[in-house]
Amino acid sequence: MGCFPPRKWLLVCSPEVSSPTPCLKQDQSPTKSSSTSLFSWQAMEQLVDEGLVKSVGVSNFNVSQLERLLSVCRIKPATNQVELHPYLTQPQLVEYCKSKGIVLIAYRENSPVPLLENPMVNEIAQKHGKTSAQVLVRFHIQRGIATIPKSITPARIVENAEVYVFHLTRKEIKTLEGLDYNTRFIK
Ligand SMILES: NC(=O)c1ccc[n+]([C@@H]2O[C@H](COP(=O)([O-])OP(=O)(O)OC[C@H]3O[C@@H](n4cnc5c(N)ncnc54)[C@H](OP(=O)(O)O)[C@@H]3O)[C@@H](O)[C@H]2O)c1
Repeated sequence: MGCFPPRKWLLVCSPEVSSPTPCLKQDQSPTKSSSTSLFSWQAMEQLVDEGLVKSVGVSNFNVSQLERLLSVCRIKPATNQVELHPYLTQPQLVEYCKSKGIVLIAYRENSPVPLLENPMVNEIAQKHGKTSAQVLVRFHIQRGIATIPKSITPARIVENAEVYVFHLTRKEIKTLEGLDYNTRFIK
């Protein structure tokens, strides 16, 4: 093991998220016992202690799950990877993570087809001469949220990276935030 450079970061998923979650309130994930998560977290802290990873983070944690973890952890999670997009903007979670210095990483940032085809998103994209996918990535950047769009299509990989040459107005950000209807695409 010692001959491998340490990994930069490692994520632990909330085990609760694998259970069916048809109807969730804003900023909520299902709640069950978090003992498995805490046990996993302690194991991950150990990996940091041993120099095998540099940073550790969580995934699919809501505010109360983060509060519980922060009350017992030795090492604060560097990141929390969650589903985020204009249909699920999770403002409370965003504010909470910012206040605790936890970097939010968005997933499902540009894959929900209904979102890529949303007329409002299309209109904003047209105004900037950009694609809807680029607007959705830019939306995260301007909200201070990290995003790692995934594509196996070379042209889209380039497209998803060309998001630093335009700026959404405050009104456009508000319009996109206004599309929120607390919908998760990953249940
Ligand atoms: N922690 C979790 O629970 C969790 C859950 C889901 C995902 N993730 C992670 O989050 C990251 C992102 O995954 P994701 O599934 O959410 O991916 P995503 O980036 O939201 O979407 C990927 C899909 O969007 C398409 N796409 C990408 N760029 C596009 C563009 N410019 N225009 C139109 N379509 C485009 C891709 O198609 P093509 O590939 O065909 O181009 C692919 O079907 C991954 O690292 C994944 O492992 C984590």
